[in-house]
Amino acid sequence: MHITSYFAKDLFRGKTVFITGGSSGINLGIARNFAALGANLSIVGRSQEKLAAATAELKAIGAHVVAHSADVRDYPALEKALQETNTALGPVHTLICGAAGNFPCPAADLSPNGFKSVIDIDLLGSFHACRAGFAQLRETQGNIIFISAGMAFMPYAFQAHVGAAKAGIDNLMRNLALEWGPFGIRCNSIVPGPIEGTEGVRRLVPEGSGDLLRKAIPLGRFGTPDDIGQLSVFLASPLASYITGTVIVADGGQNLPGSGAWTQLIATEIAKASR
Ligand code: NAP
Ligand code: COA
Repeated sequence: MHITSYFAKDLFRGKTVFITGGSSGINLGIARNFAALGANLSIVGRSQEKLAAATAELKAIGAHVVAHSADVRDYPALEKALQETNTALGPVHTLICGAAGNFPCPAADLSPNGFKSVIDIDLLGSFHACRAGFAQLRETQGNIIFISAGMAFMPYAFQAHVGAAKAGIDNLMRNLALEWGPFGIRCNSIVPGPIEGTEGVRRLVPEGSGDLLRKAIPLGRFGTPDDIGQLSVFLASPLASYITGTVIVADGGQNLPGSGAWTQLIATEIAKASR
């Protein structure tokens, strides 16, 4: 696969990038962009099959890759993955907290365990990765990128669990930027808009309504995994050496008219499903 890059080809040569949820979708797109600039990749996910496919793809770009089948809710498993990463590839320079779970569900129907599952994967999982990665990031004076979502700052119907989790992530990010800045560690969040071809869009955009939603986006299109990959390499690069504690929105302006168009569509779908 060809990746257009505007950065020096060896920008991350010898550097280790650890990505939770790196086996598919946006996070795999991020991994590809780092691999194209010489980085070594360590990816975490639950499905062995997805990890194997992603590993093959990243190796074909030329990266050294290690893959760990682990659940981000399991702190010892993440600690082990980070230790093995250090041994195999060297200490982590960039940590991407990208693993997440999502499904649309009216709050009145959402079980406490459904709410907890998303909080545990997104928020607790992000803290686990940061906590277990701290010593290595201190050693490299590295950086952390959290993959947030628009629900963190704007309510979307049937996304109470996701909004709470992602808002928590952005606040965790700012807190760590404050506490870990003195160690030379930068922390930032990226808010992707709807990204073409991903599981998130498959779950949240009712079939056949993509065009309507695209029209509601000022730039007139959904994003691509490379849009988020390019932003990630910028944030991890020396070009961003004074940027920390920020939430960067890359959504084609989707948040500007609000969540109304999406809410209307998803409300219709949920009503159909419960008939
Ligand atoms: P995706 O392909 O399903 O990515 C999620 C990844 O996380 C998968 O690799 C998944 O692999 C892994 N994962 C899920 N639960 C896990 C767990 N408990 N432990 C370890 N790994 C776990 O979905 P995506 O749409 O590309 O989303 C990627 C990120 O972008 C997420 O943080 C999402 O919230 C964010 N985002 C997406 C969009 C969008 O339009 N797609 C918009 C805004 C934000 P396994 O299932 O094999 O574990
Ligand atoms: N609607 C309502 N509740 C749901 C649901 C849905 N579509 N899917 C799961 N839940 C509830 C379950 O009923 C369960 O609650 P209960 O015990 O009270 O019945 C709870 O959530 C946990 O479900 P389970 O399937 O055991 O969770 P898991 O830990 O195996 O999986 C999910 C986590 C549910 C988030 C799953 O969708 C997942 O693995 N997602 C990862 C990929 C993804 O979401 N990608 C998009 C990222 S934007």
